[in-house]
Amino acid sequence: MSPHTDWADSDWADFDAPGEQKLRRKRTKPQGRRKVADLVADDADLVADATIRRLLDLGHLTRVIGELKSGKEATAYVAEGPRGTALLKIYRDLQARSFRNDAIYRAGQVILDARARRAMEGRSRKGLAMLEESWVLAEYAHLWRLWEAGLSVPEPLVGPRPIDYSETVPAVLMRLIGTEAAPAPRLSDVRLTPEEARKAWDQSVSGLADLLRLGYAHGDYSTYNLLWWEDTVTIIDFPQLTTRQSPHFRELLRRDAESLSTSFRKHGLHLGAEATLREVQRRALGPGPTPRVLLP
Ligand SMILES: Nc1ncnc2c1ncn2[C@@H]1O[C@H](COP(=O)(O)OP(=O)(O)OP(=O)(O)O)[C@@H](O)[C@H]1O
Ligand SMILES: [Mg+2]
Repeated sequence: MSPHTDWADSDWADFDAPGEQKLRRKRTKPQGRRKVADLVADDADLVADATIRRLLDLGHLTRVIGELKSGKEATAYVAEGPRGTALLKIYRDLQARSFRNDAIYRAGQVILDARARRAMEGRSRKGLAMLEESWVLAEYAHLWRLWEAGLSVPEPLVGPRPIDYSETVPAVLMRLIGTEAAPAPRLSDVRLTPEEARKAWDQSVSGLADLLRLGYAHGDYSTYNLLWWEDTVTIIDFPQLTTRQSPHFRELLRRDAESLSTSFRKHGLHLGAEATLREVQRRALGPGPTPRVLLP
């Protein structure tokens, strides 16, 4: 369990939302002596607080309703903004991500600015900050591209101009799938009837095919990153999306097909990894979804 989770458990009161997932609200911070772990967690919390304040000031948000989920690298909040109910994803451990082996996702990426490239490769302080920012900007850029292409992904709520969405770093704002009271659960968390499972599988395979048709591998495609709402699958979590430029593209695509196939076993579906990959490739040759028209 991460220090943040420890801290969160003692300081955020769970309350039951009527829906499938729990929202959390903040209680007062504990007084007196703190453990080191708490101090580390407090840093992350301060970043989140400062980010939320800035987004409120800039008008990207009007209200934060509660914390939805604290994951490996980001904390997800349910919030409200001028364009409706939003999922606010605040990255809190980008340094860890940047230090981790992200080379497989970055290989083949072209960074035109030689100074920036050297800073990132050398992992200087400035370079790390750039890397951190680039994960967030990448998630927005991918969301916009996929949303415009008509894929089943959450609508990004800031942009499409990078100059606009760069204001929200280290957070990403997108439309909440589900409702404020009952955010959509992940496919990994639901029980499905056999018929629902077949539908979810069919849409998930098509989702990966849609990505492949556009020249992408997701990089982390499993029921943990697929939401289920009103019989519809929505793909989430895109910072590690990889293009065909990458020398690891085939390997990442194969891994996506494999984790999709493995993670669906609990729903009673057993198509093997190879057969799943072939089906994804077959569907990618067919017609894609209808592109969305963006209104100004
Ligand atoms: N648009 C959305 N609508 C509703 N819920 C969402 C949305 N986007 C993300 N979530 C929820 O927030 C969680 C974290 O989002 P995401 O998977 O993008 O981040 P992560 O850093 O990979 O976190 P984790 O380690 O939990 O997977 C998801 O598991 C999901 O429950
Ligand atoms: Mg995820």
